[in-house]
Amino acid sequence: MAWREEAKKRAVLEAVKHVKDDFVIGLGSGSTAAYVIQEIGKKIRREGLRILGVPTSHQAIMTAVHYGVPLTTLDEHPEPDLAIDGADQVDRELNLIKGGGGALTREKIVASAAKQFVIVADETKLVERLGTNHPVPVEVLPFALPTVLAKMRELGGKPFLREGKGKVGPMVTDNGNFVVDVDFGPIRALKELDLQLKSIPGVIETGLFVGMANVIYLGKPDGVLRIVRK
Ligand code: 5RP
Repeated sequence: MAWREEAKKRAVLEAVKHVKDDFVIGLGSGSTAAYVIQEIGKKIRREGLRILGVPTSHQAIMTAVHYGVPLTTLDEHPEPDLAIDGADQVDRELNLIKGGGGALTREKIVASAAKQFVIVADETKLVERLGTNHPVPVEVLPFALPTVLAKMRELGGKPFLREGKGKVGPMVTDNGNFVVDVDFGPIRALKELDLQLKSIPGVIETGLFVGMANVIYLGKPDGVLRIVRK
C-alpha cells in the first residue's frame, strides 16, 4: 500500500500547521511521528522558528538530532504547548490505541502534559470500535509478568508477550520493561478497561488513550480527513 506513506505525509503537513514560534512540542514515536519531526526541522530552518522538542523515545531523540530539532525535557518544560504523535487505531470520538512502537508510557505522559494533542495517521487506522483486530499494548514490569498475565486473562483478554526483533527473548522498552499485547476484541467500555488494567500491580501504562486527543488528521489517497474534539 504505497499510497499510505504519501497519505501520512499529507496528514503531517496539516498537523505541523499547529506549530508556532517559541513552542515546546512533544515529539512522538513511530514512522508517522518521524515525518512530523522531519517537517518541524524543515520549519525551523525555513522560518527561523525557536522550537524545543520533548522526545518520547530513543527513536524520537535520534530523529530530532538528525533533523536539527533542539531538545528539552519535562523537567525544564513540564507543560509543552503541543504534542504530535501517530496512532495504531483511532475512533471518531478521538480515542486511540497506541504503543505499536513500544513507546506508549512516555507518549502518554508527554501527551497528558501538553496543552494540545494532535494525532497523525493514514485513514486505515480509523475503526468503528477500538480493539477490532488489534490488541492493546500494555507496558509491564518484568518482575510482575506472570501475575499480570493471569489478571489480564481474568479480564477476558488474550495476552501475548511481545518478542524483540534483532534480539532473542522479549522486547524491552526504553524504560527497561516488557510489552504485552492483549487481545480483547472490539472494546465497549474503553475507560473502564484502561482503569482495570492500570489497577493490576506491575502494569506501568496502557496503550488506551481515552479522551486525550484534540485533533486527528487522517491521510487519504486524495486528501486529509480532520476529526476535531467539539
Ligand atoms: C509508538 C506508537 C506509534 O505512534 C504507533 O505505533 C503508530 O506508528 P506508525 O506511525 O509507524 O504507524 O504508538 O509507540
